[in-house]
Amino acid sequence: MNRIILASGCAFALGVTAVAFVGCEDTGLISSNFDASAYTPEGCGFEVSPATETVAGFDDGLGTGTPDHVHVSINSDASSTVAVNWRTNLETTGTQVLYGTDQTAIEAADGPGDGVSVQSGHWMNFEASIFDTAPTQIHEVHICGLSPDTTYYYKAGSPGAWSEVYDFSTAPTVGSTSPVRFAVTGDSRNEPSIFAEVQEAIDAEGVDFELFSGDAVIAGANQGQWNAFFEAESGNGFKAIDLLARTPLMVVNGNHDNLQVNYDAQFAMPQDKVDGELLNGEEWWSFDYGNVHVIGLNDSPEINAISQPQRQWLEADLAAVDRTSTPWVFVVHHKPTYSCGGSHGSNLDIRSAWQPIFDRFEVDIVFAGHDHLYERSKPIRGLQGVEGQLAEAGVNGTPVDQSGTLYVVAAGAGAPLYGADDQCFHTEVAESTRNYVIVDIQDRTLEYTAYRLNGTVLDSFTYSK
Ligand SMILES: [Fe+2]
Repeated sequence: MNRIILASGCAFALGVTAVAFVGCEDTGLISSNFDASAYTPEGCGFEVSPATETVAGFDDGLGTGTPDHVHVSINSDASSTVAVNWRTNLETTGTQVLYGTDQTAIEAADGPGDGVSVQSGHWMNFEASIFDTAPTQIHEVHICGLSPDTTYYYKAGSPGAWSEVYDFSTAPTVGSTSPVRFAVTGDSRNEPSIFAEVQEAIDAEGVDFELFSGDAVIAGANQGQWNAFFEAESGNGFKAIDLLARTPLMVVNGNHDNLQVNYDAQFAMPQDKVDGELLNGEEWWSFDYGNVHVIGLNDSPEINAISQPQRQWLEADLAAVDRTSTPWVFVVHHKPTYSCGGSHGSNLDIRSAWQPIFDRFEVDIVFAGHDHLYERSKPIRGLQGVEGQLAEAGVNGTPVDQSGTLYVVAAGAGAPLYGADDQCFHTEVAESTRNYVIVDIQDRTLEYTAYRLNGTVLDSFTYSK
């Protein structure tokens, strides 16, 4: 049975295995997916596309499957937009979010009304892989036109089948000097319960958003592992999703996530596709949050890191940053530019591809994972192609200031720990331990703390600019 509905100014013909995309730009009948199609969510100034390798369609309000795995992310302007993803059974093609600032109204609503807004989005179905026996149905909604620095309440689903009500807060306007606090972690992989412990600790810190440096699962095509990631629960009974439903998780692709459709479909990173970029423009991304600019890159496989399109985009993105309004610039990617860890160590290809750009634009901190440990470099400026030449470039491990970029490895939120080593010329601190990082920005002052999972401080410093 096919149905024709109108939504966001576009008409969609939805079938069981086929989607026709009619009345929008880039339209056409695509039998297996509509990755080539894009639509502008109502009220938004950007286009989004369903993940490649999915059968997809637009909200039709139908289905009684209760959402789970509900989580939010930043999809564009963090002060006025948010993206929500969730999972349902295969029969549910209703893809709506009810939202507003009145918690009681949202809790009572079964549709839009007084104090309750609705936004529709798209659903995506991807087939079973060799690891799984069942297909998966993921939903994605992009909301725009929100007020800055405001707490909203929302629930996801379709009439009669809503998630519980969660809250999230928008960012202050770009350039605001309001405090910003964010967390960094990565490499959950093998042990979801440890990932949930890390999330429990981060939840207690009350962060604005979280950066995840890749390798959420061991095998990116194994949806069972992704289900375990989203359903992770700590020994104390803390559910990771209770943080992820309220706090944007900004992810980059790791070699284990491997650019799989599961990764693509279940996260909504800012889509601003350039030629040569995978994941419909979500392979690399950036956003502003108050006076902070954050960039996410993809280094897996390395050929994508050294590719011209990503390097050109990185240069252009950094060149466009107004450091008077967003003086703080952070980068997150997976494979470390600098690491003394014995299992992987520094990735010299990535170093030579990206460090000259980080240097030129004086990036403050570059976060990575992949080596399951904690490590912070000395401040580094000047490409180090050969180990041992750092002193010649004027890097001496003096107290942290703006003289160089810091390279941090903050990984092991579930993956087996690797041995750490602090004897490399570039290493300031290294320890083989479960960890997470909290960064506080107060106007022109940065306060940095890395914690062990038992809550003790592993590394800390403060600097101002
Ligand atoms: Fe990795």
